[in-house]
Amino acid sequence: MVVAGGLGMAGCGSASPNPSSSNPWPPLKTLSPFPFGAAAPSAYLDDPDWVELAQSHLSQITPEWELNREYIAQEDGSLRFDAPDRLAAFCRQNGIRFFGHCLVWYAQIMPYFRGLDASLFAAEYDRYIQVVMRRYAGQMVGWNVVNEAVAEDGGGLRDCLWSERLGGGVAYIRRAFEQARLADPAALLFLNDYNLENNPAKGATFLKLVEKLLKLGTPIDGIGCQSHLDLDIADGQIRTFLRNASDLGLRIHISELDASLRRDDGKPDLRNLDYKIARQRALITELTQAFLDLPASQQFGFTTWALRNRDSWLRRPPRGDGRDSMVFLNDHGQPTAMYDAFATVVTHQVKRQTA
Ligand code: G3I
Repeated sequence: MVVAGGLGMAGCGSASPNPSSSNPWPPLKTLSPFPFGAAAPSAYLDDPDWVELAQSHLSQITPEWELNREYIAQEDGSLRFDAPDRLAAFCRQNGIRFFGHCLVWYAQIMPYFRGLDASLFAAEYDRYIQVVMRRYAGQMVGWNVVNEAVAEDGGGLRDCLWSERLGGGVAYIRRAFEQARLADPAALLFLNDYNLENNPAKGATFLKLVEKLLKLGTPIDGIGCQSHLDLDIADGQIRTFLRNASDLGLRIHISELDASLRRDDGKPDLRNLDYKIARQRALITELTQAFLDLPASQQFGFTTWALRNRDSWLRRPPRGDGRDSMVFLNDHGQPTAMYDAFATVVTHQVKRQTA
């Protein structure tokens, strides 16, 4: 059983759980009462250590970027699937759920699209969704159909070419979900966004958008709360967002969880490591308990945006400095303080339920 420990191991952010002889550190998918996943590029399948950890810890995998348009759509409009096909095969061979990310994103519009006239633009928008989703129909448990539709400051919808060329407002979002439902009726369809807990105004706008889409009959099954957590948000913000989100009755996916120790605002970081690790513990504790307080039917799962610290986008240039610790396993595949906080909450919950 994991016991909250100090930072007993090498590397910042490592926990020192009290490993039992039989099971040094319970795998995350065993600890977690709901599906536990991670994001990965297909290149990690060539790392035997990563493969062993993924087989042990994960019940779901999201392609980190190789199901995005930037990878699939080629300049001439053709599509390539070699990398996501490798990840799909690995998931099939290992009984791991496969989750698609993402079909429509303001940040990724290939140049060939921009030159299309109105009717061709709409037809190509639909074709892309149909072709990509049908390829994995029957395997994909769900998709982030539209990613990051809300403006950075939460002041409304983000302007983007999709909206501009497909009728303005929420029309492009509705169209994407309707096409997605036709392409793979078995897949759960999610609207995904970030800073929903870090920025309460953005979280509120996001939930109002989902409510409006539902009232218009849009086939949305779930919301993706990316949860790239800001260590300095006020306690209770995560719980408040999840409680408000729960009122919509949809599945909730903590879809890109990490909690960087670094500031991303360019200001000098005067916080000491112990403070930052304590904040990671506090936020993971709040997030996990608030998620467990959701109705079981709404607990779609957690996905961390890397399995190990070393696998994270936050370690890659230009951000990466090799010392950040932001997920549940350190560079050596051992539990970090975030794992420890998560394990402490879920094991106490299990005890309460079996008492
Ligand atoms: O692997 C290639 C490398 O061979 C090539 O030399 C290099 C330069 O072109 O590119 C490398 O691929 C990059 C890939 O990350 C792997 O590092 C892509 O250019 C780069 O665009 C891609 O960035 C991804 C980004 O989304 C944009 O798709 C990140 O990995 C991924 O972590 C990030 O994830 C996003 C979510 O989709 C949405 N929420 C925020 C999250 C973090 O930004």
